[in-house]
Amino acid sequence: MNSLTKLVGWIDERFPLTSNWKAHLSEYYAPKNFNFWYFFGSLALLVLVMQIVTGIFLTMNYKPDTAMAFASVEYIMRDVPWGWLIRYLHSTGASAFFIVVYLHMMRGLMYGSYRKPRELLWIFGMLIYLALMAEAFMGYLLPWGQMSFWGAQVIINLFTAIPFVGPDISVWIRGDYVIGDATLNRFFAFHVIAVPLVLLGLVVAHVLALHEVGSNNPDGIEIKKNKDPVTHIPLDGIPFHPYYTVKDIVGVVVFLMVFSAIVFFAPDMGGYFLEYNNFVPADPFKTPAHIAPVWYFTPFYAILRAVPPMFGSQFPGVIAMGVAVMILFFLPWLDKGKVKSIRYRGTVYKVWLGLFVFSFVGLGVLGVLPSTPLYTIFAQILSAIYFAFFFLMPWYTKIDKTKPEPARVTG
Ligand code: HEM
Repeated sequence: MNSLTKLVGWIDERFPLTSNWKAHLSEYYAPKNFNFWYFFGSLALLVLVMQIVTGIFLTMNYKPDTAMAFASVEYIMRDVPWGWLIRYLHSTGASAFFIVVYLHMMRGLMYGSYRKPRELLWIFGMLIYLALMAEAFMGYLLPWGQMSFWGAQVIINLFTAIPFVGPDISVWIRGDYVIGDATLNRFFAFHVIAVPLVLLGLVVAHVLALHEVGSNNPDGIEIKKNKDPVTHIPLDGIPFHPYYTVKDIVGVVVFLMVFSAIVFFAPDMGGYFLEYNNFVPADPFKTPAHIAPVWYFTPFYAILRAVPPMFGSQFPGVIAMGVAVMILFFLPWLDKGKVKSIRYRGTVYKVWLGLFVFSFVGLGVLGVLPSTPLYTIFAQILSAIYFAFFFLMPWYTKIDKTKPEPARVTG
């Protein structure tokens, strides 16, 4: 017995190292037909780690004080050795996180990965998505630029629209009657510790739930239904390690190539990843001509603006925006289709999924643009399509003419 085996044996008597390695890696059997869409879970993990590590280094030089915050970020950019790189990795990382997570969710929609028995896995995913939105929103206030200040102003003021308790709620969130030092300090506390802790806990729960039920796959059929009678290993499963650990490295390399190209050559992405107005220090007396959130929030922002105010209150828009996000939680129960994967669905479902993607991207584009009467009509049409996708789902997934699923996974 060599010394490494001895050491592992020593640990195993005190900690479940080998058993966990087996359960989650070398003897976790994943379907053999994973494709490109299955890279985004591990990429989301990579970006999460990157955000935490770069965030720790940013915190070493950032000052959560309205008098110093903007200058401390400039100090990181100009004077701290490699500070510019750490900051651009973190700011570009935020957009990369949403790109990866949106593609990850899209895979779920295409292959019906939210369906039984993966409902709880999907719910954990949605909670992660909510936490991620909160994390990004609060992080954006920290550089204390014009968009940090005015973006937060617009979003926190939305709470004022809630009948009766709204104004008190927004004061409670800000910790003041205006966005100020108290707001910046609490957003800092939430951004650097509270929300990341919640995110980490949710990601662990997400992966545990996945490993309890097993991964879905592009065919949307359960590999656990076909097990070897002797070994009880799914016939269409392969050990996650080494097969998918190695495959995921390919995804990581390609991702890092694209990501570094953006970090080094276009960190602001033409104003989409870092808005130009945010290179100007926050000025509570000067409202920017055009306030828009960062791209990953714009589909929901467009829905908010598409709904006309009632009795001078924006409340209906706020409700529509909230429903637009929360409806995703109910997807496992809205979909009544006979099959899970897009491969075996009929034309009706394919058209609706296409319309949904079109409406989400279209709303995202409209949310960046200043609103005009014509754009508002477009946003209203696209919002109607967005909601129809969900509300009509129980009906069109039932009447959809599906193809028979194969007994075993295909290539
Ligand atoms: C920090 C964010 C997230 C991380 C680190 C993460 C991590 C992962 C990992 C490692 C996997 C397995 C690999 C894969 O199937 O790609 C996975 C699967 C899955 N995730 Fe996530 N995830 C995140 C966010 C989300 C969100 C926001 C949702 C949906 C609302 C979601 C829904 C799912 C589903 C349904 C599966 C199973 C897919 C299948 O087996 O076909 N995840 N996740």
